[in-house]
Amino acid sequence: MTGGATVPRLVVLVSGNGSNLQAILDAYASGQLAATVVAVFSNRARAYGLERAELAGVPTRVCRLQKGQPRREYDHTLAEGVSHFRPDWVVLAGWMRILTSTFLDRFPDRVVNLHPALPGQFPGVNAIERALDAYRKGEICHTGAMVHLVPDEGVDSGPVLFSERVPIMPNDDLKTLEARVHSVEHRLLVATIKNLCGRGVANERVAI
Ligand code: GRF
Repeated sequence: MTGGATVPRLVVLVSGNGSNLQAILDAYASGQLAATVVAVFSNRARAYGLERAELAGVPTRVCRLQKGQPRREYDHTLAEGVSHFRPDWVVLAGWMRILTSTFLDRFPDRVVNLHPALPGQFPGVNAIERALDAYRKGEICHTGAMVHLVPDEGVDSGPVLFSERVPIMPNDDLKTLEARVHSVEHRLLVATIKNLCGRGVANERVAI
């Protein structure tokens, strides 16, 4: 662990609601997770995840893309801000920007992303909606959720840490399927962090 801390330090990046951030905060508060969120960053000033962090007493930072700002310059600024908090792990929990190597190379093998679909399926936005459409066309019988490392700029790809199938029911609509996928994501993300932190060596590539 960096900085000689005994409790692994997490910096969480969010862009919106932050229910996955909440799952991490709750797991820590209830003693189920021995890893603490030391800061929450958002690229959107109005992300509800920021309020969740503030309620939990966690420092927040907003890092907005300036008009015309090059991606790598933005990622450099973001990386500077994040590294200030000396994270053992950087958790992308609903972070809706692709990070370049300018950011990722600062935290090698320490950036973790959550995606609401199985590995290789429906990368990018609206994954749950696209899975429901595919189910209705008879192309898939279930969907899932996964947590993976982010080694490069690939979208929702990278070494898989945990994944789990999520059933789709014939009478599902987007709302019911989203609720089912999200509840699996919350559990999966906490379990993954627990597992990563249990290993104790942040810079070691993991394969679960
Ligand atoms: C999750 O489904 C995550 O997989 C996706 O965005 C959603 C974020 O949800 N990348 P929340 O902001 O944590 O509630």
